[in-house]
Amino acid sequence: MDDISKELNLDFNKNVYKPLDDTYLFLKYFKQFINKDNIDGIKLNKISYILDMGTGTGIIAIFFAKYFKSNLGLNIKIYASDILLDAIKLSKKNAKKNSLENEIVFIHSNLFKNFPISLKHKFKIIFFNPPYLPSESIFKKKNEKRNFYSWDGGKKGIEIFENFLIQSIEFLSPIEKSFIYFLFSTNSALDLLYAKIEELGFELKILIKTHFFFEDIILHCITRV
Ligand SMILES: C[S@@+](CC[C@H](N)C(=O)[O-])C[C@H]1O[C@@H](n2cnc3c(N)ncnc32)[C@H](O)[C@@H]1O
Repeated sequence: MDDISKELNLDFNKNVYKPLDDTYLFLKYFKQFINKDNIDGIKLNKISYILDMGTGTGIIAIFFAKYFKSNLGLNIKIYASDILLDAIKLSKKNAKKNSLENEIVFIHSNLFKNFPISLKHKFKIIFFNPPYLPSESIFKKKNEKRNFYSWDGGKKGIEIFENFLIQSIEFLSPIEKSFIYFLFSTNSALDLLYAKIEELGFELKILIKTHFFFEDIILHCITRV
């Protein structure tokens, strides 16, 4: 277990993705680039809505909620959602364990399907550690004991994320620059994903690339003005 996980006091559950190297790569990056004034250069006082898509145990939403709560005067609303009801139940429980149950709104939803219309055009930042492995071949065998929502990104590994991107446009703030931070693996069809990102009018930046086990995991940021 990583230090960040210990600091956050989380429960786990066999049906829900237990934070792994990819989750910690994500959080270590933000631990380094968050301070009283900004997250990764984005001014905190310019942020009113953020979303943790595919929240799992809730770890990413809880990490930010904890930081914002200790930084008085901020008015940042945090949303967290997951397709898996068990993940929503567990992340709510974890938020409560950290006395953050009033700081995060949880939505049980397949991507943005159940999001209220009132959230359209609201989010300045979305975080997503998505399922990113191709459904077939060696990955199926390696992951057969895990809930497929946690790893199966579609036939080429990119389909869930592509759907997310298409739907996200309606939920990102249209009047100011907005940001999506996401992880992906070199075992997926990254060239096709990057082409889609460009086609949808996003600008792509690679933030970190780290080798784990059988793949490189890349943390990206895409922006839209
Ligand atoms: C790799 S896990 C990441 C969990 C957590 N954010 C973390 O970093 O530890 C991917 C998460 O996305 C969720 N997920 C998969 N497909 C989804 C969809 N269509 N809509 C919303 N959540 C989805 C899974 O249930 C899972 O919790």
